[in-house]
Order: sequence, then C-alpha cells, then structure tokens
Amino acid sequence: MGELRVSGSKQLVDTYGRVHRDLRVSLTDRCSLRCTYCMPADFSDWIANDKLLSTDELITVIGLCVDAGITQVRLTGGEPLLRRDIVEVVRRINELPQPPRISLTTNALRLAEVAQELKDAGLTRVNVSLDTLDPVRFKEMTHRDRFHDVIEGIEAAKAAGLTPLKVNAVLLKGVNDDEAIPLLKHALANDWNLRFIEQMPLDAGDLWARPVMVTADEIQSELEREFELTPVPSRGSAPAEEFYVNGGPETVGIIASVTRPFCAACDRLRLTADGQFRNCLFAREETDVRAILRSGLPQSEIDAGVQAIIESVTKSKLPGHGINDPNFIKPDRPMSAIGG
Ligand code: 5AD
Ligand code: SF4
Repeated sequence: MGELRVSGSKQLVDTYGRVHRDLRVSLTDRCSLRCTYCMPADFSDWIANDKLLSTDELITVIGLCVDAGITQVRLTGGEPLLRRDIVEVVRRINELPQPPRISLTTNALRLAEVAQELKDAGLTRVNVSLDTLDPVRFKEMTHRDRFHDVIEGIEAAKAAGLTPLKVNAVLLKGVNDDEAIPLLKHALANDWNLRFIEQMPLDAGDLWARPVMVTADEIQSELEREFELTPVPSRGSAPAEEFYVNGGPETVGIIASVTRPFCAACDRLRLTADGQFRNCLFAREETDVRAILRSGLPQSEIDAGVQAIIESVTKSKLPGHGINDPNFIKPDRPMSAIGG
C-alpha cells in the first residue's frame, strides 16, 4: 500500500503458492437467454442498476489488478454484450500501461453487430456458449428463438479475427447428451475449438442434481465411439483437459469442474457485476470493493483500499472448492452474477 506502482513486475501469490494471473469480470448479471441450467425462465431477481460498477469504476479496479500481477482479463456475465459501454470497457482496458490480454465469454446474440469494433478496441478472443445445433432444441434450452443469431455471431467473430474461436457446450442428460459427436463434427468442420463443460451447482434456482449431470468420463467415452482422443500434455492453469482428435492438430476440451477439479492449478480471481471480489466461483465469502470506490475518499486512498482487498482476497483463497465434500453448500449467488 502506498508504494510505487510498477506495472507488470508484481505477482499475486496465495498461501498455496498459486500465482494469480487471470481476472474474470462479470459486467452484468442480465442475460438475453434463459438457459435452463443457468436460470429459471421467469427469473427476475436482477442486481439493481445503480449497484453495477460504472465504466470508470471497472477501469480503476481492473487497472489495480493489472498492477498487482493480473495479465489476463476475461469479460463475462450474464451476457457482457448487454453492457452499452462494452467497446469502451475493452478499449480502456487495452489502454492501461501494461495491457492484459482481453477475452470475452458471450452467448453471441449481439456478436455479429460488435465483433469488429471489439477487435479494433483490443479484444483478442471470444468464447461462445452453444449447447445444441438444432434450432428447435435451442429454443427449448434457452427459451428464446435465437439460434441463427448465435451462428451469425460466431461467423462474425471469425471474420474479425477473434480467434481461436472457442465454443463452450454444457450437456444435460435426456436433453442434448446425444449431441456430443455432432457438435464435435461441426466444430471440426467450422474451425471451432470446442469444449464441453460439466454442469455445475451454480444456477439461479435449484436446477442442479448430480444424477442428471453428464460427467467428463461419459463425454469422453461417447466421443471415443467416433473419434480417437489422445491427451495433449502440458495443461498449465487452463481448466480444460485437451485431447487431440484423430491425431490432431485439432483438439477438443473437457472441463471437469465437478468430477476432476483443477483447483490446485487455479490462477483466477473474480469480480462480480456489483463490485464484489471473490477468490473462487464457489466461495462462500466476497469482499465489497464498490463501497470503497464510492466512499468519496481521495483517489490515492481508494487505490490503497482496493489494493489491500486484492491482496487479502488472494491470501484467503482455500485450496479447493469442496463441491465433492458432503457438507458442500452452494454459493448464495448464481453464475450469472459471479461471472463464468
Ligand atoms: N454449469 C456449467 N456451465 C455453466 N455455464 C453457465 N452456467 C453453468 C453451470 N451451472 C456455462 C455457460 C457458458 C460458460 C461461461 O459457463 O454455458 O458457456
Ligand atoms: Fe445467459 Fe449464459 Fe446463463 Fe445462458 S448460461 S442464460 S447465455 S448467462
């Protein structure tokens, strides 16, 4: 605190030696879809607008995180493209003295409209969420008839050079678990880097149950009916286990957050849409940074307060998320507020 800020030279290390380089920022908890595993169709318990961080507040916090050692910022939600200032947020992050790599997780409904502007502002990559190739099933799974907007958004992102284009799919038993192979075939044919994500207990309702989750093992054996999968060595801190498909170079990823947790390599911190710091998706605690930002204190004191929070949130990180402990308690807040 109060010390000279020297960008890029610091590291955010927790008590288990994990170096934190990745900041996930939820820009809004609102979304233009209602994916059944994420929120109930009639969900309305949104964060009030005046609690969302403003553009200036976001840039202050992200800038201090970068000073503290963050080198990669992922913008998420909810649906981050619903923020009207999205291009400005990207541009101003990219104008920081030591700009981090900036990526975005989106449902792609607005992507065709803004892909090129985002690229020009400094965005490097996008992750698009898409769980089915069937427009009718898409409507059933998201409660919105917008499949073709997603495909257009993906094409626009590729055309703008927001690559490698990653596509995230969540499989649900009896809903779309017959699509593992078709999704991968389509991904290979269209240059998508596909990753399957195990469904996690993080929804805005009571939608998760272990028996309906499709596990990483199940996804892998299903894919192996059609493809030869060989593990790609060196995974680093990436959550996905990557496999070469039929000898490569194409790969497919499986993110087994529940059955094969990767907490030991986790390098992520999270900022919620309403300005709360969390050290884990599944943390039971969060630390209020919005109150300091709005305290009216001189900027140097605000900066020092935010720096202290970044450090303490990192230091109090637990070794693992405990989803598999019998006494695991789901976080109070859904993924849409925390940021995926
Ligand atoms: N479990 C697993 N993945 C989820 N996502 C949203 N909610 C859940 C959940 N409960 C996915 C979205 C998106 C990514 C950020 O997380 O589909 O691709
Ligand atoms: Fe929106 Fe993503 Fe939740 Fe689907 S999973 S409702 S796209 S926030």
